[in-house]
Amino acid sequence: MPLVDLRSDTVTRPTPAMLRAMAAAETGDDVYGEDPTVNALEEQVAARFGHEAAVFVPTGTMGNQICLQLVVPPAEELLCGAEDHVVTYEHGGAARYGGISSRTVTAPRGLVDVDAVAPQLRPAGWGTVATRAVSVEQTHNRGGGAVHPLAALTELRALADRHGVLLHCDGARIWNAAVASGTPLEAYGALFDTLSVCMSKGLGAPVGSLVVTDAARAAEARVLRKRLGGGMRQAGVLAAAAAHALEHHLDRLADDHARARALAEALADAAPGVVDPALVETNIVPLDLTGCAVDGPQLAAAARAEGVLLSVVGPRRARLVTHLDVGDEAVGRAADVVARLLMS
Ligand SMILES: Cc1ncc(COP(=O)(O)O)c(C=O)c1O
Repeated sequence: MPLVDLRSDTVTRPTPAMLRAMAAAETGDDVYGEDPTVNALEEQVAARFGHEAAVFVPTGTMGNQICLQLVVPPAEELLCGAEDHVVTYEHGGAARYGGISSRTVTAPRGLVDVDAVAPQLRPAGWGTVATRAVSVEQTHNRGGGAVHPLAALTELRALADRHGVLLHCDGARIWNAAVASGTPLEAYGALFDTLSVCMSKGLGAPVGSLVVTDAARAAEARVLRKRLGGGMRQAGVLAAAAAHALEHHLDRLADDHARARALAEALADAAPGVVDPALVETNIVPLDLTGCAVDGPQLAAAARAEGVLLSVVGPRRARLVTHLDVGDEAVGRAADVVARLLMS
């Protein structure tokens, strides 16, 4: 029986059609700006978000780190959510590479909004570290794939404008947000000074993210990318995978969302309180194991023994993530296994 790997939507393998697109890609040296496939991808992604430019980078982490350096000068402040990827999983990169001082606010399901941010903004010039930018994560990874509502982001933009503060979006899964909420990518794009969007999560490309911003910042982003070691040469093979993913795997994210919801419903029936299906908006099913006999590591080990892989994200927190490589049968099998383990 093949393993059902629900640890993350990053575990997908390139499809045969994607591999064919990669093999057929026209390439050039992208550090010279001469890779036509990269250039076309950058133009396409910038246009989808209504921005002037985009820069292809190897990873979402590098995309975020470049953006943070674009919006916060050294020794000044970034405000973000306490559970955000940029301060949880990026190994202090903002401090290390950008000399950025990060301060966090808490918000339910990671959905940092004006109420959380407004009291924390600090102006320059009266003895405190000046807040230069606010970062939000769309969808929110540790928040269980929660979607920032467009109206809340619009309020945040207005607040940022009133205070002369910039806005960054870690849009690793912004595609899921757009599909789940029916919001055009352009509407999200209009709200942010910089976005980092990933092709290697739900869209299923093997590698690659893009920094999306205006032309002047994009030029600076190319320098920052080179400094960080992210200048790639014949990267068109990777950009071709990303372009294929955008064309063929964007709308199908709705299938991942439906499967995640079905999984959540099955688990909620088996173990009430572990997950609220109404809060499963996209492809992540967060499990709260507080009242359960098993903790996260025990559940993961027992599930693995039965061919189902899930992620432990805290002592009593776990998650399951649906993606391109798991269909109804696999998700159904995972639901049966995990439900039984939660009941035992
Ligand atoms: C919300 C979020 N941002 C950024 C990243 C970083 O992406 P990468 O693993 O490509 O560096 C991830 C990775 O899972 C993520 O979930």
